[in-house]
Amino acid sequence: MEKTPNRTLITTALPYANGPVHIGHLAGVYIPADIYARYLRMRGREVLMIGGSDEHGVPITIKAKAEGVTPQDIVDRYHAIIRDSMAGLGISFDVYSRTTSELHSQTASEFFRRLYDKGEFVEKTSMQLYDEEAGQFLADRYVTGECPHCHAQGAYGDQCEKCGTSLNATDLINPRSAITGAVPVLRETHHWYLPLDRWESRLREWILEGHKEWRSNVYGQCKSWLDLGLQPRAVSRDLDWGVPVPVEGAEGKVLYVWFDAPIGYISNTKEIRPDDWEQWWKSPDTRIINFIGKDNIVFHCIVFPAMLMAYGDGYQLPDNVPANEFLNLEGDKISTSRNWAVWLHEYLRDFPGKQDVLRYVLTANAPETKDNDFTWRDFQARNNSELVAILGNFVNRAIVLTHKYCDGRVPDAAGALTDTDRAALAEVTDLRDRMADLIEGFHFRDALRLAMDIARTGNRYLQETEPWKTVKTDPARVDAILYTALQICGALAVVMEPFMPFMSERLAAMLSMTRLDWDAAGSAGILAPGTALGSPELLFDKIEDEQIAAQTDRLARIKKENTLKAWHPEPVAEPVDFDTFCRGDLRVGTVTACVKVPKADKLLQLTIDDGTSEPRTIVSGIAAWYAPEDLVGRQVCFIANLPPRKLRGIESQGMVLSAIDRDGRCVVMGPTAPVAPGVRVQ
Ligand code: 2FM
Ligand code: ZN
Repeated sequence: MEKTPNRTLITTALPYANGPVHIGHLAGVYIPADIYARYLRMRGREVLMIGGSDEHGVPITIKAKAEGVTPQDIVDRYHAIIRDSMAGLGISFDVYSRTTSELHSQTASEFFRRLYDKGEFVEKTSMQLYDEEAGQFLADRYVTGECPHCHAQGAYGDQCEKCGTSLNATDLINPRSAITGAVPVLRETHHWYLPLDRWESRLREWILEGHKEWRSNVYGQCKSWLDLGLQPRAVSRDLDWGVPVPVEGAEGKVLYVWFDAPIGYISNTKEIRPDDWEQWWKSPDTRIINFIGKDNIVFHCIVFPAMLMAYGDGYQLPDNVPANEFLNLEGDKISTSRNWAVWLHEYLRDFPGKQDVLRYVLTANAPETKDNDFTWRDFQARNNSELVAILGNFVNRAIVLTHKYCDGRVPDAAGALTDTDRAALAEVTDLRDRMADLIEGFHFRDALRLAMDIARTGNRYLQETEPWKTVKTDPARVDAILYTALQICGALAVVMEPFMPFMSERLAAMLSMTRLDWDAAGSAGILAPGTALGSPELLFDKIEDEQIAAQTDRLARIKKENTLKAWHPEPVAEPVDFDTFCRGDLRVGTVTACVKVPKADKLLQLTIDDGTSEPRTIVSGIAAWYAPEDLVGRQVCFIANLPPRKLRGIESQGMVLSAIDRDGRCVVMGPTAPVAPGVRVQ
C-alpha cells in the first residue's frame, strides 16, 4: 500500500565483483535508482541510497581459478573498478561497501543463526554432483551440460543461458565439471533449507493483494512463482568462499550467495548509520525501494521477504521493487563472459566529460517495460540531435542573447511579462508537475521525455518571440523575453539534475544559481533580476563518426573473437559405403588461366589442365579470397564428374575443393607436392 513516508531507503542490486559494470547494469539498476534518489533529495526527503559489491558466489571462484589467483584478489580488483567508475558516472550512493567486510560477515552470520535458533530452517540430505578429481561438490555454475529443455550445449547447473530456464544441476544431460572437465558423480551432502512454502500465504497476500500497483513484469513473475507453489530452498553450499555457516558440524559449508547478498543491504546501512540503522529497516515511517534487474525478481520479492518475515523483529518489507527488463547491445545479449558489453570504466576513459550523455541515452532508451537495444548509432544520434540540437542549443541561445542585449544580467522584467511569456512558463510548470508524478511512479523514461519537452518549449518560445528581431524595434520587450527564457533555463537546471547532474551543475553555475529548488522550477523568479550570468559555454558537443566507428570496430573484433572461440567441428556425417564414395571422381589439375567473372563479385573462372587435350573450365565462388594471378600455376583438387552447370552464362565443369576456416575464410585444396595433371585423388 502506498504510504507517505518520512524516509526512503533505496537499495540497488549489489553487482557481482567478477567483472566491471556495463551499460546493462546501469540502465537496469543504477541510473534509475540514482534518478530517484536525487529527485527525492531535491524534494527535501530523507534518503539513503545503498550500494556495494556482491563478492561471494561461484562465478568469482571460477574466475580466480582460471587466472590462478585467489577469489580475494578478484574481488579486490573489481570492487575498486566498480566503485570508482560508479562514482565517475555520478551515481550518488550514500554507501558503496562490500560483502567481504567483517561487518557484513557478522550481520549475515547473526541473521542465519537467529533463523536457525528459531527453527526456521529444515535440514535435508540430498545427492549432489561431486567432482572426484577436484575433490569438491559442484555447486550451480561449476556444472555444465546439455539443457534438458532446449538441448543447447553449455547450460549451467542453475540456468540455461540459451532458453533462460532455471535448472537443477542434476537435470543436465551429460553433465561435466567446469573445473576439471570430469564427469561428476552423485554424492550425499546435507544443507539447510528455508521452507518458502511456510510463507506462501503471507507472500500471496502481501504481493498479490497488497501490491497490485507494482510493475506488471514484477507482479506477473511473482504471481507465477506463487501459483506454481513454493518449495524449500537451500541456503547453504559446499564451497570454501563465502560466509561460513555458523553452526556446529558445518565445516566446508558457506551461506548461499543469494542468502548473504541481500543481507548486504542491511550491513551497508549499519556501516553508515551505526546508531540509527534500525529505523531505516524497522520503522513504518521508512519506505524501502529495491532497484533490481528482472533476473533478481524472485530473490527480492519472494526469498528475501521470506527471510525477513522469518527473522521478524519488525523488519519491513519493500514498498516497491521496480525491476527493469534487459538491455541488449547491438542486437545481442550483453555478456560478461563473452566480453559483449560497453564497460563503464572504458566508456569514461573513451568519452571523458560525457557522463551525462550515457546517463541520458540509457534513460531515454531504458528497458522499463520490455528489453531494449543499445546501439552506438542511436547514442550518437541522441547526443547530436537531442542534447546538442535541442537542450544545448536553447540554453546557449538564451545565455548568449542575454550577454548581447542585456549586459549578461537577468533583466528586471518580471512585471512586464505578456500572456505569451506567462503561457510558456505555465507550460514548464505543468511539465515539471507531470514529471514529478512520473518519477514518483518510477517512469523515468517518460519523465525525461517531458524534461526535454521543457527545452523544446524554450526553443519554440524563442522562435516565436524572435528577440534578435524585436531588439531593433522594442528593446524593453527583449528584456521580458530573455527574462522568461532564462527562467526556463533555470527550470532545466533543476528538473534535469536527477538525470544529468554534471550538466545541471554547469548550467546552474552559468546561471549563478546557488540552489536547485524543484518547486520554483518554471515559476518566474527562479533567477532574480540583476543576477550576473557566467560566460556561455556549450553544454554538449557533437560526437563525430570516428568516435563511433572506434566503438563499433571494437565490437566487430570481439564478435569475431567470439565466433572463433565458439567454433566446433561439425559432427561427422552419416556413414557412406565405399562404393558410393568411389563414385565421386576427384582429380588434380593445374590452373593455366584465371579471370574474374564480369559483374559477379564472388566468382572466378579457372581454366584447368586436367591431363586431357581439352582444357576444363570451372567457375568457383572464391574471388573474395584469391586474386586470379595467385592461382595461375597452382595445382588444385576438383570433382570431375559433376553434371556441368551454367553460372553467369559460363558452363562450369566441376567444383574446386576448398575448406572454409573458422573465420569463414576459404582455402583451396591442392596436393602438397606436384603431381601429373589428371591423376585421381583417392
Ligand atoms: O545478479 C546479481 O548481479 C547479484 N549479484 C545481485 C545481488 S542483489 C542483492 F541481493 F544483493
Ligand atoms: Zn535451454
